[in-house]
Amino acid sequence: MTEAEARAEFQDLDARIAAADIAYHRDDAPELSDADYDRMKRRYLALLEAYPGFSELGQRVDTVGAPAASGFGKIAHSVRMMSLSNAFEDQDVVEFAGGLRRYLGLGTEAPLAFTAEPKIDGLSLALRYEQGRLVQAATRGDGAVGENVTENARTIADIPQEITGAPDVLEVRGEVYMSHADFEALNARQAETGGKVFANPRNAAAGSLRQLDAEITRSRPLRFFAYSWGEISAPLAETQIDVIRRFKALGFQTNPLTQLCETIDALLAHYHSIENQRAELGYDIDGVVYKVNDLSLQERLGFRSTTPRWAIAHKFPAELAWTRLEGIDIQVGRTGALSPVARLHPVTVGGVVVSNATLHNEDYISGLDSKGETIRGGKDIRIGDWVQIYRAGDVIPKVADVDLTRRPSEAEPYVFPTECPRCGSPAVREEGDAVRRCSGGLICPAQAVEKLRHFVSRAALDIEGLGAKQVEQFHRDAWVKEPADIFELQARYGSGIQQLKNREGWGEKSATALFLAIDDKRRIEFARLIFGLGIRHVGEVAARDLALHFQSWKALSHATDLARSAALAHRAADEAELDERLAAQAEGRRARIAEARGAAIAKCEVSAEAQAAWDDLISVDGLGPTVALSLSDAFANPDERAAFDRLLRHLEVIAPEAPAEDSPVAGKTVVFTGTLEKMTRAEAKARAEALGAKVAGSVSKRTDILVAGPGAGSKAAKAAELGILILDEDQWLDLIGRA
Ligand code: IVH
Repeated sequence: MTEAEARAEFQDLDARIAAADIAYHRDDAPELSDADYDRMKRRYLALLEAYPGFSELGQRVDTVGAPAASGFGKIAHSVRMMSLSNAFEDQDVVEFAGGLRRYLGLGTEAPLAFTAEPKIDGLSLALRYEQGRLVQAATRGDGAVGENVTENARTIADIPQEITGAPDVLEVRGEVYMSHADFEALNARQAETGGKVFANPRNAAAGSLRQLDAEITRSRPLRFFAYSWGEISAPLAETQIDVIRRFKALGFQTNPLTQLCETIDALLAHYHSIENQRAELGYDIDGVVYKVNDLSLQERLGFRSTTPRWAIAHKFPAELAWTRLEGIDIQVGRTGALSPVARLHPVTVGGVVVSNATLHNEDYISGLDSKGETIRGGKDIRIGDWVQIYRAGDVIPKVADVDLTRRPSEAEPYVFPTECPRCGSPAVREEGDAVRRCSGGLICPAQAVEKLRHFVSRAALDIEGLGAKQVEQFHRDAWVKEPADIFELQARYGSGIQQLKNREGWGEKSATALFLAIDDKRRIEFARLIFGLGIRHVGEVAARDLALHFQSWKALSHATDLARSAALAHRAADEAELDERLAAQAEGRRARIAEARGAAIAKCEVSAEAQAAWDDLISVDGLGPTVALSLSDAFANPDERAAFDRLLRHLEVIAPEAPAEDSPVAGKTVVFTGTLEKMTRAEAKARAEALGAKVAGSVSKRTDILVAGPGAGSKAAKAAELGILILDEDQWLDLIGRA
């Protein structure tokens, strides 16, 4: 192949991949199977590797997905559009309700009613009415900002243009969907006229709503169910069920299967009844949504970062299909985890072509779960096997079962590598860890590259012009080995010796733009920095919570250092617990966990200061000991710590703003002590944090307010001594404006 031929092929692939990305991500209308897409992408990357200069010709060199559809204006949601946490088993629902009771301090007998309604598989839409007139319709987008689809929404018959008897401002939220019959008819029409054929009703609904020409939307049979609300100038009712009734009275379609349930048994019975009717409903649903009925309780329960505490989606069991396992690939992640991936003969599962599935870890392949108990009846998975693929919602496909009767006679048990396939370092499994990890740390190119890719990713540093492709290239050439090197690129390879602009694929303009983009990120938001470090278990939400809580790099690193001995004691206790469980199982007796943990902790030297720092760390909203331990390990690892320090020398960290600036307790440090009578500790803490306060476990000079209930002891005395404002529970509630 000549270079000219390679270029022509590259440009052709580039255009096809760009079109496929847009079809898949933006228009919700995948046109290729996963396998065809992967094949094209592999060929594209191979050409790029052979001819790095082509990167200037390509639009898909470092992008994933497609940009948000242009042509629609953006609308910032005045009340964030949330998603829902999920339950899969009946037991998850029991635990959800138990958790709410604990949070609210309700006993097991107090009434706690829920609504139960189908979870519609469409796309959510927010409709804003002012003085009874529809003024705006917006898609969910990322929850904070959506697309303005007002003109299109006006064409949907289920959406009233005018309503009477509503508050001056009313934002009705619900789901746009397409019925099975309409979907079939639309696809038949499309096929006849050579138009786009949609993979499923959800894609058809999304594609139809997001048409730049509202007349096309009008020709598509879209429907809408109202189930929730955003901004309102006056309350709609006192209960969820009455809001739904009110929506109905205002002229909206509400789902007829919505029901009020007084007990968990009633919820589960309604769930199973909806599940039985699923095939006859005539539209897609993927579960049942439960919501606390009493709106004053919803208000007390509030929200986590992206989901309400007062609702949960109970999903239906997944869809299944059989296919052949053609191979097993091992991927090495940024934390060194060796992840086996099933390469499948492509198969359609619930309207989507699947060619890869996760195999989790080596135990999963051999037929064991994380607790060492058998799964799939203990059947292992071998290359050549017929496997049953399971797909639920957005979950990555999994292997649910193996058909032993169709196993080829030559199929051998899979031998999981004990060396990293990328750097050859031993791949080890620590006790209690289901995952085998490459021990190569920063010397493993796969880990280093994955860390760098993560560091420059959109949710982390997000440096324009420096995508996964570029960092990989820089890493291959040893220009960038760790994040700090990015900030030295210009000094080392930039203006002086002008190397970058002379490199293949880079010109004067792109080099200058890159250096400017890098400089732009020398001032970086704290949460992005924490997330960008790629510490195991520290995702975007944990990073944001940590940033909010600690406000500065110095405070975060100081706290993790202080907490180290308590973190190690926690790990020792976890290990002792595991040993005790195993011993008890072997000896056929009840495990004495508390004693085992206590004895392990007693052997560790943990100062009161370290314990307080650890308690503070694990009390950061949603963090918990697993994240805290991982954070502690990263900061205590000398190589990682040195890399952090090198990076921090280049950065100015911007502290996050407290979420509710205008609240009287924003930015204040609050300590709760004694017995609270109107709410539980968990609720008090969550509410204070939602108002921008920081909640600490112990009183210090930095404490602003001590909320002391009956029985407050030494903390109240210390606060009085330090001259700190002490409030009782009612005074605190008066201060935060809700009694
Ligand atoms: S309530 C704050 N109710 O599911 C409560 N959502 O997985 C927000 N959905 O983004 C949602 N049917 O698009 C609610 N009956 C229902 C629903 C429903 C479908 C969608 C909605 C949401 C997604 C979350």
